[in-house]
Amino acid sequence: SESLQVGELAKKLNKETSEIIKKLMGLGIMATINQELDKEAIELIAADYDVEVEEEIIIDETEFENYEVVDDEKDMQVRPPVVTIMGHVDHGKTTLLDAIRNTKVTAGEAGGITQHIGAYQITNNGKVITFLDTPGHAAFTTMRARGAQVTDITILVVAADDGVMPQTVEAINHAKAAEVPIIVAVNKMDKEAANPDRVMQELTEHGLVSEAWGGDTIFVNVSAIKGDGIDDLLEMINLVSEVEELKANPNRTAIGTVIEAQLDKGRGSVATLLVQSGTLKVGDPIVVGHTFGRVRAMVNDLGRRVKSVGPSTPVEITGLNDVPQAGDQFMVFADEKKARQVGESRSKKQQDAQRKESSKLNLDDLFNQI
Ligand code: GTP
Ligand code: MG
Repeated sequence: SESLQVGELAKKLNKETSEIIKKLMGLGIMATINQELDKEAIELIAADYDVEVEEEIIIDETEFENYEVVDDEKDMQVRPPVVTIMGHVDHGKTTLLDAIRNTKVTAGEAGGITQHIGAYQITNNGKVITFLDTPGHAAFTTMRARGAQVTDITILVVAADDGVMPQTVEAINHAKAAEVPIIVAVNKMDKEAANPDRVMQELTEHGLVSEAWGGDTIFVNVSAIKGDGIDDLLEMINLVSEVEELKANPNRTAIGTVIEAQLDKGRGSVATLLVQSGTLKVGDPIVVGHTFGRVRAMVNDLGRRVKSVGPSTPVEITGLNDVPQAGDQFMVFADEKKARQVGESRSKKQQDAQRKESSKLNLDDLFNQI
């Protein structure tokens, strides 16, 4: 804050209010105890006591925490759904996403295991869908634990020959806790041992009852490898997303969440962001978690340079002073000075917290040695 009352200043300096009032009078300022002092007056008095004034920047953290920024209903426009594919190891998450994209991510991955969260967009019948490919459920869990809600729909992949496994159940629990609708993709239908009825039966025990059995969970039989059932699955995603009435205001400064981030030798800090509301533009002053900067360049999921992206769009940005974490929220500011202030304040807070944590650890180590 830029101003302080006389009484408050006296308290901060550990002096009598009357003494401060006298000093102010000496400076030609007639003041009462409740008088607001401007920055200049505060600095003059402080200098007189040999005290350095450190400006305290008050950051409205609720701006960050309160994700559901209230927008006028008339500004809201339909946005693409953000879909997360979850399921047990090897049940075919990446292969399914490949089938959807018609590309070969699996072939390029080391050992065929998902190394990072990819975020991609496809268009089906003129409607855009955003997909997140998660390595297991770690990313989903980390993001949720950090207060970020990025997923609109979960595709639960269950291999028809393997059935419900521990991570299938975990995925169901995550989706339920986040109140995200689930579409079940019964995969590997091409296999001889495929038994979709068994999958339905097992999922019933976890509260997912197929529409065919009088429940309200959508089941789609697919073969990711053969490409069977993919169109049906996409159709169902469009249907669920219509029911959910997903909307955002594209005409505001962008907010959203970090999907992944790393340090790149050539480009510095590189972060994949999911814009959740507003439009993100090159040149925007931005705070991302405890990092900040100006959006230097943006690259979309096809590796193409873009100048601006709207809601539900994943984009890779450069220009941050440091590497943020997955699940961090980002926010664009009207001017760079404000972004820097907020960024530096958050960075300092984070460092303080880390220092506290490490000194605690040191003490613990000490006690353990005794
Ligand atoms: P993680 O990322 O390690 O959790 O695995 P994932 O769920 O992404 O599975 P992935 O797509 O890597 O597939 C695992 C194995 O199952 C691979 O050998 C795939 O070729 C195979 N697979 C995936 N979908 C199908 C399918 O529809 N039919 C058959 N027969 N095999 C499939
Ligand atoms: Mg995978």
